[in-house]
Amino acid sequence: MDAQQSPDLATPDIARLVQPDRVHKSVYADPAIFDLEMERIFGRAWVYVGHDSQVPNVGDYHQALIGREAVFMVRGPDGAVHVLFNRCPHKGARLVAFPAGNVGKFIRCPFHGWSFRCDGGLHAVPIRDGYQGTRFDINDADFSVRRLPRQAVYRGFVFASLAADGPDLESFLGGIRSSIDNFCDRAPAGEVAVEGGVFRVWQQSNWKIFFENLNDTSHPMVTHESAVNAARAEYRSLPPGTKMPFQLHIIEGNGEPYEFWDKLEMVAFDNGHSYMGAIFTPPTDPVSLAYIATLEAAHGAARAREILQVQRHNSIIYPSCSPHTSFQQLRVIRPIAVDRTLVEIYTFRLKGAPDSLFQRSVVYANVVNSPSSVVMPDDIEVYARCQEGLKTQGGDWVSQHRDAGRDRPIAGGFVGNGLSELPMRNQFRAWAQYMTQDA
Ligand SMILES: [Fe+2]
Repeated sequence: MDAQQSPDLATPDIARLVQPDRVHKSVYADPAIFDLEMERIFGRAWVYVGHDSQVPNVGDYHQALIGREAVFMVRGPDGAVHVLFNRCPHKGARLVAFPAGNVGKFIRCPFHGWSFRCDGGLHAVPIRDGYQGTRFDINDADFSVRRLPRQAVYRGFVFASLAADGPDLESFLGGIRSSIDNFCDRAPAGEVAVEGGVFRVWQQSNWKIFFENLNDTSHPMVTHESAVNAARAEYRSLPPGTKMPFQLHIIEGNGEPYEFWDKLEMVAFDNGHSYMGAIFTPPTDPVSLAYIATLEAAHGAARAREILQVQRHNSIIYPSCSPHTSFQQLRVIRPIAVDRTLVEIYTFRLKGAPDSLFQRSVVYANVVNSPSSVVMPDDIEVYARCQEGLKTQGGDWVSQHRDAGRDRPIAGGFVGNGLSELPMRNQFRAWAQYMTQDA
């Protein structure tokens, strides 16, 4: 492709935008490509809806976006969770308005009062007269709230797909299932639950920039330099001999040198998923020790150690979410426009673990993932700068050269060293697969 030429989506050759070591800027900046992503990626992949702990009671609902589709999951009287389009089949009104709530016994449309069961089936219309001899039929699916073509739950994590066909959820997740497993296995009771509220962060940048950053180990010491310096200055102001408080430790960790990050393992799987390994050091702090005691009581010391040795920084479940297994965070990524992305951050409680562990997860959320944290705004700023720069005529390609050609194959994916740009290349391998499939 001519470097100055923008892609001609009338005769798509999307594959040329993604090369083994670089991608064309239009994948981040062209609204027509964003439209095609909504259709070919978010119209096909399994997309995270929510966790079933967010709808514990009959009638509880939680809204989500799958591409441009407004959907919600709702708990039925049979205990099952149903994922439905947020649209009344009568006049098209959105049925639920709040991010989360309870529909009561039935889902009742606020416009004309048609009511539906939690599986979407039409329960009643207020006026039965007048429909005789028309095509209206209470048992016709066209008069029910439409269900997503596919939905599936893995250990409480609810996913749905706009495509009727495709791999099942477990095949889609492949190797990254191990991150969901470890997220849950860390709970002495083997289950997790969303607790507390949600942080919502608007990013003035393309959704893929955020995904790339999640496993980008060569940015923290630069992007977060001021936060690291502030944390170190704060620590120096404490009485000599003070152990570094958890809050400062988390911020200061971004200042580790390149050699530290390079020792971590990058593991990438098919479909764009990956994780960044972390180094396991047996903890000695009271919060961890109290928690480990509950895990050992539930599973025995050997199994507890096996679970805790699975140490990971961010995991990526492409293209919709990112669990952080050690601190019980889940970031949910919703592309809104080519240059606008909504990220929602949830904190989970490990069932059976002491409250102090959950409190530490909340502290982590506040320090790292809150809009008022001293860490995340650094990232948001550089993402927006990328989006601005990519719009200019100052260049056409985005580099992913570091360790290109040196990814080592494993079953269902690749591994690389910690500073490798393997995760970015891996995301675009999946991106190109989705985007070049015509039908
Ligand atoms: Fe960062």
